[in-house]
Amino acid sequence: MQYNRILLKLSGEALMGERQYGIDPKRLSEYAKEIKEVVEKGIEVAIVIGGGNIFRGVAGAANGMDRVQGDHMGMLATCINGLALQSALEDQGVHTRLQTALEIKEVAEPYIKRKAIRHLEKGRVVIFGAGTGNPYFTTDTAAVLRAIEVNADAILKGTRVDGIYDVDPEKNKNAIKFENITFKDVIKKGLKVMDMTAFTLSEENKLPIIVFDMNTNGNLMKLVSGEKIGTIVNT
Ligand code: GTP
Repeated sequence: MQYNRILLKLSGEALMGERQYGIDPKRLSEYAKEIKEVVEKGIEVAIVIGGGNIFRGVAGAANGMDRVQGDHMGMLATCINGLALQSALEDQGVHTRLQTALEIKEVAEPYIKRKAIRHLEKGRVVIFGAGTGNPYFTTDTAAVLRAIEVNADAILKGTRVDGIYDVDPEKNKNAIKFENITFKDVIKKGLKVMDMTAFTLSEENKLPIIVFDMNTNGNLMKLVSGEKIGTIVNT
């Protein structure tokens, strides 16, 4: 296996599947199956999930809402998604723990780095909710932060595109995909992989980012087995 411990970043929007809002149970259970497969191979899996399918703080602010208020709503949205994913994984017989950066003790464990690592060592999938627990930070930043804290080998960013292209592949059919790219080249070429806070945190800590298409069945398994899937950003 290429990786022993991964941090999987899933977008909230991806959970919508074909819907316009909320959670598509079919998509959720597909994701759970994909994750189960890699857990059964002995890969330790930590997950950060976004909340954009329910609420985005930035969108709230654009409509005149206080940004901090909006971001707090977004953080709660990630907890809702975390609970849904936990439930879907448990339906598949996968052991999980949900830890949140904001305390909602009756619902989930508070985030404790050492406990998270023990859970991973015991083969439990650890889902991190509520982002970093701070407004103005994205769930990509939370994903990088948690990946560094739990010593993940890489951050796997599941998206609907199959990697990083020189131009937007959804707008330009001549777009060229990179198999490997350095952090420096991503910045030089002005490519958007993650927001700058998340991206520089990853670069400074030499944490590879792999952008891949999570919606194609079997991709996650192929990736952790060492197949060339998506684009790797490395030093
Ligand atoms: P080990 O110490 O490895 O056995 O881990 P564990 O998570 O099984 O032990 P623990 O006794 O901490 O937790 C037992 C159960 O309670 C697990 O399902 C945890 O997710 C849950 N749990 C632990 N702490 C909290 C908490 O603060 N809030 C909530 N809601 N659940 C918790």
